[in-house]
Amino acid sequence: MERNKDINTVAVIGGGEMGHGIAEVALISGYKVFLRDIRQEFIDKGVKRINESLKKLVEKGKVASEQYNRIQKEYLFTSVDIKKAVGKADLVIEAIPEIVELKMETFQDIDRYAPSHAILASNTSSISITQIGRATKRPEKVLGLHFFNPVVLMKLVEVIRSQHTSEETMKVACDFCLRLDKIPVRVEKDEPGFIVNRINAPTHVLRGCILDEGIAEPEEVDALMKRQGMPMGPFELLDYVGLDVHRDVLLYYEGNLHKDYKPYRALEQKIACGDLGKKTGKGFYDWSKGRPVIDLSRATNKVDLMDFMAVQINEATKLIEMAVCSAEDIDKAIVNGTGNKIGPMTIAKELDPDQLSERLMNLEIRFKKKIFHPTKMIVEGKYR
Ligand code: CAA
Ligand code: NAD
Repeated sequence: MERNKDINTVAVIGGGEMGHGIAEVALISGYKVFLRDIRQEFIDKGVKRINESLKKLVEKGKVASEQYNRIQKEYLFTSVDIKKAVGKADLVIEAIPEIVELKMETFQDIDRYAPSHAILASNTSSISITQIGRATKRPEKVLGLHFFNPVVLMKLVEVIRSQHTSEETMKVACDFCLRLDKIPVRVEKDEPGFIVNRINAPTHVLRGCILDEGIAEPEEVDALMKRQGMPMGPFELLDYVGLDVHRDVLLYYEGNLHKDYKPYRALEQKIACGDLGKKTGKGFYDWSKGRPVIDLSRATNKVDLMDFMAVQINEATKLIEMAVCSAEDIDKAIVNGTGNKIGPMTIAKELDPDQLSERLMNLEIRFKKKIFHPTKMIVEGKYR
């Protein structure tokens, strides 16, 4: 596919878990990429990860070896200097830590040095794009481009409109995602967590209660989920994403959605020990010898899978009630952003509203979490 005519050069700010992947998919699609991090050693690490992944793709015949060589010589540029990194960009994608103040400062700098026509995107997992846009003098050109981890394999990109993003910016960004061979899903309001993360948000709270109350252990829960066909157990996935990223997101929800999202004790304990998941070699699992092997025989019967499904469906109906997206887009996003085979709104069609409401109210009472309270749409059965 041809490159988007409006975008030739992409700057990626932050070369970590997500930034290196975003840079890689842009390179594969033929864009010139400037990668920026705060220290040369972080840039080097990001470039090493890009190259390791590209080599795997060359071995599989998905990238030609000639293209690999050209990427090294002609397409990938790096700099610790923000001015150099964004000075020629048509699109800047920020992928730095999930800390509001840091994002705001960084967007001020990007806005100062990027050409006036450039579109500025954040890969934030949860933070308001409207707020980020206010750090710039071009809020109509600021939007969310939320990629999923691992970027090279996950198809979804949530394309998030702020209160100020122009339709032209949304269109150019969706087109760019298509050229990366991704599936863009438009998010018409920047509610915290957007679509996929927002729908999963109450499941983290529920799992946090399960750990903190000693009901089941991470591996027992993961084994249960993996037996249902999920590609990764939910605790394994948190390790994969980064427990620090997960905590930052929960803190943002706690401040901007509901106090029920306060990070759970078991998570705080891991973080206090410096166990951040895959990136430090230890989290809920030991990653020092690679991806953990989950013992499926440990699947627990102390938790009920339907409870997780119920809180997801409930959260999904909140998004529909707020006109963030349609039921179809919810399923499209979940299927392409998480590897689940079926979306929550399709599953919901089979569920009785009274039973679903009762289950949610029981969870609300049992765990003292108001966020599990059923929505009007659930109570009235309007989701079917
Ligand atoms: N580059 C190139 N190839 C890669 C790769 C990479 N970065 N990572 C994995 N692969 C390859 C592996 O080498 C492997 O190749 P072979 O089949 O040739 O061995 C193949 O991909 C499959 O990998 P695995 O065998 O290790 O594992 P898998 O079959 O479970 O697939 C997965 C991996 C696609 C990641 C799958 O486990 C999955 O879909 N997991 C769920 C991921 C998910 O939910 N992501 C969303 C996280 S939330 C988020 O991102 C949002 C946020 O804001 C926090
Ligand atoms: P990470 O910690 O792996 O990488 C962040 C990188 O940003 C680090 O290399 C750091 O040195 C660099 N950095 C810090 N300040 C910087 C600055 N001012 N300029 C340039 N670089 C700077 O984090 P990550 O997991 O890649 O997350 C990045 C963003 O992507 C966050 O907003 C996160 O919420 C979001 N996100 C993460 C995932 C995930 O699975 N990890 C998925 C989707 C979205």
